[in-house]
Amino acid sequence: MFFETHWLDVLRDHGNQSVLESKSRHVSDRFIISNHFNEVAQSINNSLLINNIHPQKLLEVGSSLGRSSYEMIKAHGGIKNVTAVEPSQAFMKTYKDILLKGHKIDFTYIKSRQQLGHITFDSSPIAKVCADVKFELINKEFDSHTVDEQFDLVVSLNVLDQCPSPNTIVNALKHSVKVGGVLCLSCTYQWNKKHLLDSSEAVNDINDYFEENQWKCLSQHEHDYKFRFSERFSRLFSAHLVVYQKLDV
Ligand SMILES: C[S@@+](CC[C@H](N)C(=O)[O-])C[C@H]1O[C@@H](n2cnc3c(N)ncnc32)[C@H](O)[C@@H]1O
Repeated sequence: MFFETHWLDVLRDHGNQSVLESKSRHVSDRFIISNHFNEVAQSINNSLLINNIHPQKLLEVGSSLGRSSYEMIKAHGGIKNVTAVEPSQAFMKTYKDILLKGHKIDFTYIKSRQQLGHITFDSSPIAKVCADVKFELINKEFDSHTVDEQFDLVVSLNVLDQCPSPNTIVNALKHSVKVGGVLCLSCTYQWNKKHLLDSSEAVNDINDYFEENQWKCLSQHEHDYKFRFSERFSRLFSAHLVVYQKLDV
C-alpha cells in the first residue's frame, strides 16, 4: 500500500500531526510526501482552462487510492459525475472509504521494509469536498465493455506499463472520450514481463497512440513520481503526461 505517498500531505493540511514511526530515527515528511498528484492535476487543469474546456463527467482508470480523482474534483468545480475503474479490491475499498464515506480510517504506512505502522485519520474533510459528486465505482480491469457511455474528461495515470495489455486499455479509453472531450495519459515506460503479456505492445512514446487527424495535443510534461520501498528508500520515476482533445471528424 502507498497510503503515505498518496495522502500524507492532505492529512497534514487537515491538521493530522500523527508521527509516522520509523525503524531508524525519525524520517521527515518531506522525504515521504509526493507532489505528483498536485502537479499533474494542475498541469491538466491549465490545459483545460487555456482551451476553455469545462468537464462535468470524469472517468478515471486505475484510480488506486483516489488521490487523482480528489485532485480533479478540487481543480474542476464543475465535475458532477466520477466513474472510477480499479481492479484491486483493497484499493477500491480505500477509495470508497476516503472519498465517499468520510469516517475514521486505519492508515498503514511503511515503518521498515518488513513492518507496517498504523495511524487513524478522519477522512470527512476529504469526503466533504466530494459531497456533490455522484460516483460509480467499478472494481475490475478496464476494457471496451467496462463502460457504455462517453465522458468529458478521461484520465489514466501510470497504469499502461503496469497492466497486461496497454493496447486494450488505450483503445477503450479513446473510445470512452466524447468528441471535444479530453484524454490524459501518463506513463513511466517501465515495461516488464511481470505485467505485459505481449512485449510488442510496449511503446517508447505514448504520443504514438494518438492519430493526428483525430486528436489534438493540448500539452505534455514530465512529472516526478515517487514510490517508497522502506523507511529511507524511495524510487523516483519520471512520468510522461500527455493531454489530448478528441476532434470532430
Ligand atoms: C502504478 S499504479 C498507478 C495508480 C495511480 N493512477 C497513480 O497514478 O498513482 C497502477 C494502477 O493501475 C491499476 N491497473 C492495473 N491493471 C489495470 C487494468 N487492466 N485496468 C484498470 N486498472 C489497472 C492497478 O491496480 C493500480 O492501481
